[in-house]
Amino acid sequence: MDICKKDSFKTIIFTIIFNIMVKYSSKIIITGGLGYIGSHTVVELQSKGFEIVIVDNLSNSSIEVLDGLKIITGKNVIFENIDLKKSDLVTDLFKRHSDLTGVIHFAASKAVGESVKNPLDYYENNICSLINVLKGLEELNKPISFIFSSSCTVYGQAEILPITEKESIKKAESPYGNTKQICEEIISDLVNSSKNLKAISLRYFNPIGAHESTEIGELPLGIPQNLIPFITQTGAGIRDELTVFGNDYPTNDGTCIRDYIHVVDLAKAHVAALFSIMNNTHSKSHECYNIGTGKGTSVLEAITSFEKISKTKLKYKIGSRRIGDITSAYADTSKANKQLNWKAELSLDQAMASAWKWQKKISK
Ligand code: NAD
Ligand code: WQD
Repeated sequence: MDICKKDSFKTIIFTIIFNIMVKYSSKIIITGGLGYIGSHTVVELQSKGFEIVIVDNLSNSSIEVLDGLKIITGKNVIFENIDLKKSDLVTDLFKRHSDLTGVIHFAASKAVGESVKNPLDYYENNICSLINVLKGLEELNKPISFIFSSSCTVYGQAEILPITEKESIKKAESPYGNTKQICEEIISDLVNSSKNLKAISLRYFNPIGAHESTEIGELPLGIPQNLIPFITQTGAGIRDELTVFGNDYPTNDGTCIRDYIHVVDLAKAHVAALFSIMNNTHSKSHECYNIGTGKGTSVLEAITSFEKISKTKLKYKIGSRRIGDITSAYADTSKANKQLNWKAELSLDQAMASAWKWQKKISK
């Protein structure tokens, strides 16, 4: 059998086993499931037949997301309005859902600048919540698949591009980045001692875009810190102009390079990760995977993509560098391609078009 045939045979067998497993043992808890990436992941999991329990305290999301999810999938989810920092509520939550088989832990605070201003809030929310969730799971004393939302921020400015998972983890640039490093370490320590927990950390690169239905998408609070929402808000006339943070970097056009991944591709990576843990297809009990497209895009290229898909000119100026920005980060995704049988499929233009369609809907 040649390699391609062998791989597709393996995929068919895995898919059959996976579908059977989903049918008979399918309750997954999604913490932060009303948020940007969590909500898109709920859609993908529901399309595969999982029963979903969303746990969210609405600190950075809106209850209306539940309506959007219902419109897209036609299915119901169970919603638990719980603050994961409250350990007694978390213990009680897992007792009520003790038939669960997996948890995807998205819930966290994510604004880098805010984490510099309020480090204790970030350590408390991101680390205490994780510990409460893991303690609750350990108390159940049954096999659990656990997926953690990590970030490419753990690499800082990598020495070798594209970035593989073997890249060294440097001192974090921000308290937010540090929480991701610490959380990954906590998970590693726990799986070493736990007989029940198997975990995957997905290190996301730069998620952008929205579901094609425009029922769910990113809802940045206040002035967006991230590039793509700033571009689409400028295009929609909410912001006067975009400032490009520096054009004197050692890159082709002088602007920084990132790996922008469509949020729907990212959501699908979570299904693939669950599938992989449930089928025991990796050797270590805590594996980390880069989730990106593998393609680097400069800030000016992102602007060009926006102008192309929106058929408008974007108003922008070149400003000074933003403190803490790294020059280039894009993923080597071969580990996820091979071991999770997952690959990003959507292009930058497709992701940008979905972000623009979403922006036009929410700014009406
Ligand atoms: P988001 O803010 O849209 O979603 C997070 C959700 O968690 C929100 O709905 C919020 O209300 C909820 N939440 C926060 N603290 C909670 C708590 N204590 N109890 C219950 N719910 C709580 O963020 P997102 O962009 O969807 O990110 C999801 C995860 O992915 C986060 O862990 C984030 O750090 C990580 N991540 C995001 C990006 C990105 O660029 N968006 C990149 C890399 C990693
Ligand atoms: C992208 C590029 C900016 C805004 C963030 C988090 C990181 C991780 C991923 C969570 C950079 C430039 C931006 C603007 C600009 N998230 N830019 N003008 O820097 O990769 O990181 O998302 O884990 O922790 O910090 O993404 O979207 O902020 O910036 O020129 O108004 O766009 O300088 O080069 P980044 P970003």
